[in-house]
Amino acid sequence: MRTKIVAGNWKMHKNAEETEDLLNELIDRIPGDTDVRVIVAPTFVNLASAADHLEFTPIEVAAQNMHQAESGAYTGEISAGMLKSVGVNIVILGHSERRSYFHETDATIAFKTDAALQHDMEVIFCFGEELKDRQSGNHFNIVENQLRDGLFHLEEKDWEQIILAYEPVWAIGTGETATPDQAQEMHAFIRETVRQKYGSDIAENVRILYGGSVKPDNAREIFSKPDVDGGLIGGAALKATDFAAIVASA
Ligand code: G3P
Repeated sequence: MRTKIVAGNWKMHKNAEETEDLLNELIDRIPGDTDVRVIVAPTFVNLASAADHLEFTPIEVAAQNMHQAESGAYTGEISAGMLKSVGVNIVILGHSERRSYFHETDATIAFKTDAALQHDMEVIFCFGEELKDRQSGNHFNIVENQLRDGLFHLEEKDWEQIILAYEPVWAIGTGETATPDQAQEMHAFIRETVRQKYGSDIAENVRILYGGSVKPDNAREIFSKPDVDGGLIGGAALKATDFAAIVASA
């Protein structure tokens, strides 16, 4: 049985005080004995304090991005080693906003993934098609290419540290959630694609999260699908009552 995961991607929201307030509300609302893995991803400036704040709680901290280099003249960037040094062991990579606004390619995301794995981090690897791809019936090819070009160079042992996050771009921030059947159809395709490359053990054990307008009123049905192992939450992660309700639905 795969552990369910609910991760909140806060994106560029919450200053230091707002972060502390939201974390305190989440600590109050999320049961200490939850069997769901709960992860929050504040902005870089709040990661160290969040990691300290959550140290003795069931809530884990993730970064929203990182650079593939160990160090160097990369103004504004953060390395895996720096994240680990402040107690952050999980990183979101390949988010569609990184791909579109910051022009990250599959190759760049593969290099970032390698760097994170070299530092024993877990990677929440994001991928998903755009509306035009789905409308043209090309969405399965797009997803397969993103998996192949981003992850299929990895060795079998690496997959213990990989969490997949399928996020159809057309559902992110739009309120246009994929239907539970659409999510299940693509998640089953993703699991089969991993199976063909790496075999059944890895395919059956890898967690595949769904992201894209997950809300308290749709989470339970989406998460109930056999190949959906939880969610990567954006807007609803910024409100403690909504995020806690989504966790409770997992
Ligand atoms: O990474 C999760 C995010 O892209 C989903 O955003 O606001 O549609 O839940 P949202």
